[in-house]
Amino acid sequence: MLVDRLNGIIGGSEWEGMSLGQMMLSSFNEGREQPHPPFFHAAQVWNHDFYWRSMKPGGGGKPPERLLKFINRDFGSYEHMIQQFMDAALTQFGSGWVWLSYKESKLPYVKSRSPIPSDNYGRLVISKTPNAINPLVWSHSPLLAIDVCEHAYYLDYEDRRADYVAAVLEKLVSWEVVESRLTKAVQRAVERDGHLMKRILKKRQLAQANGQNRARSRTPQEARCDHEVASSSSVEA
Ligand SMILES: [Fe+2]
Repeated sequence: MLVDRLNGIIGGSEWEGMSLGQMMLSSFNEGREQPHPPFFHAAQVWNHDFYWRSMKPGGGGKPPERLLKFINRDFGSYEHMIQQFMDAALTQFGSGWVWLSYKESKLPYVKSRSPIPSDNYGRLVISKTPNAINPLVWSHSPLLAIDVCEHAYYLDYEDRRADYVAAVLEKLVSWEVVESRLTKAVQRAVERDGHLMKRILKKRQLAQANGQNRARSRTPQEARCDHEVASSSSVEA
């Protein structure tokens, strides 16, 4: 239904040639005002597809070693991470999603502001979003999502959302898929930030060559980029 409606919205429009992800980011409107029309349908198609791909029969159990290292570093333990995930799931009022994501750098790829206040880039974070909002709009890389809209669980669990979320985490999640998404997200962040650093360094060299850099200290933006690239590299290591 969502795919059909989305196709109806974008037919013949500027959105038609975009991937779902591009369409979602372009139509979000940076969170300043109402998103453009394709956003909610594009995001819900993306989110549900992502959700199905996060599962496998006989899933759950403990995450594999590399993912577990990140979880232990960023949440203290697997149990604390699950607790935080459950808290987010149970406090999301009405329909929405709960996410485990990799928080990428603050570099200006996406202009909308993350609701996660910490400056700890290169870390795993848990967030909850209303309706169709996807953490990609804050430059977080989603690793795991659970649909907490009532339609996802009411037939089996009635209003017992906690039982439903626990069942997904304990019996369905493919932690191998989550780990593979994390590996790609870290790699992407390192490559992306490295690419931007090269541009900044080149700009500095040009400024030096033109004699415009005498005794000029770095701008806060440049200093931040240096720090963030270094942080991403250390996470990858
Ligand atoms: Fe749903």
